[in-house]
Amino acid sequence: MKCKKCVMFLKFISFFLPSWTSAAKSTQVIAHRGAAGYIVEHTAPALAMAAAMGADFIEPDVVVSKDGVLMVFHDIVLDHTCDVAKKFLHRKRNDGKYYVMDFTYAELKSLRVHERFAHTEMKKRFPQDAAQFEMLSLEEWLGIVKGLEVSVQRPLGKIFELKEPKFHRQHGYDMLALFADFLRKHNLNHVSPQIYVECFEPTALVELAQVHGVVANLVQLMSLASEWHQPGQSSPADYTWMQTDEGLRSVKSYAMAIAPSLAMLYEHKEVGTIISRELSSRARKHGLKVFPYTVRKDALPQGFQDLEQIHRFLVVDEKVDGFFTDFPDLAVAYLARLK
Ligand code: G3P
Ligand code: CA
Repeated sequence: MKCKKCVMFLKFISFFLPSWTSAAKSTQVIAHRGAAGYIVEHTAPALAMAAAMGADFIEPDVVVSKDGVLMVFHDIVLDHTCDVAKKFLHRKRNDGKYYVMDFTYAELKSLRVHERFAHTEMKKRFPQDAAQFEMLSLEEWLGIVKGLEVSVQRPLGKIFELKEPKFHRQHGYDMLALFADFLRKHNLNHVSPQIYVECFEPTALVELAQVHGVVANLVQLMSLASEWHQPGQSSPADYTWMQTDEGLRSVKSYAMAIAPSLAMLYEHKEVGTIISRELSSRARKHGLKVFPYTVRKDALPQGFQDLEQIHRFLVVDEKVDGFFTDFPDLAVAYLARLK
């Protein structure tokens, strides 16, 4: 009798197990700007931590210096994460901001980067005055990642985000041509499950493929209009339309995946009660992979009670192909628990 119950219980469990375990096996952990939850984003230690923590992919954000060098930096301005105001006080523009593209590679290398000034919720991140780090060019970034691939004995996926190509072009920089050259120079311009290129601007992705001959996998970043709140940042795309079947069909014509913000995936009425907006499943029906951003244990998306709930929502409920996280170790540990 006892044994019969056991068998029934195992049968019951096994009904659920395959979907959990297969999701756990295939969900990729993307270290957002490196292991940015632990140490300053986009720095060498952030890459090393991400690799050591078991991330599948590492994400660099890419901008261009005054002398045309691709640099790994999240913002098109320097104001929020380095000591530019101390070192180059008079180099700000009339709008009061210091733009990366107004500084040469050598000048950018002389700056010391640190945690963001404006981290209000993320109080337990690496203290701004504890140590300071150097900005990396994209070539330097790649050199470190290649080195880590040797030392951790596994390939590391690369998901490059091109920041504001339109803005760069308006100021005379053809970021897309520079980036296509970079891919070719480093033998990265091929279709590989380890190489992705993402951008918020659909026209940039199309141009990369059609004008610059980029064949690597392209990913369309998406966001709610209300999330574009940073001055100096704009996104020339209609993401509301992009979420419709017509929009997703259009994305599929040039990209193989979408990267929506977490807020695009769900609604909630009260904390803990999450209702899917079905964007992930609809995107999948159109043959698109889904890589949402960004999981942060110290800035949970609204409506989620804890990190476990957001991990479960993404992996088990939404069955996303991967997700960006500032805390790759916690994502890896979650996926290991599912196996
Ligand atoms: O690339 C995914 C995510 O990084 C996009 O947002 O602002 O963190 O670059 P952001
Ligand atoms: Ca990014």
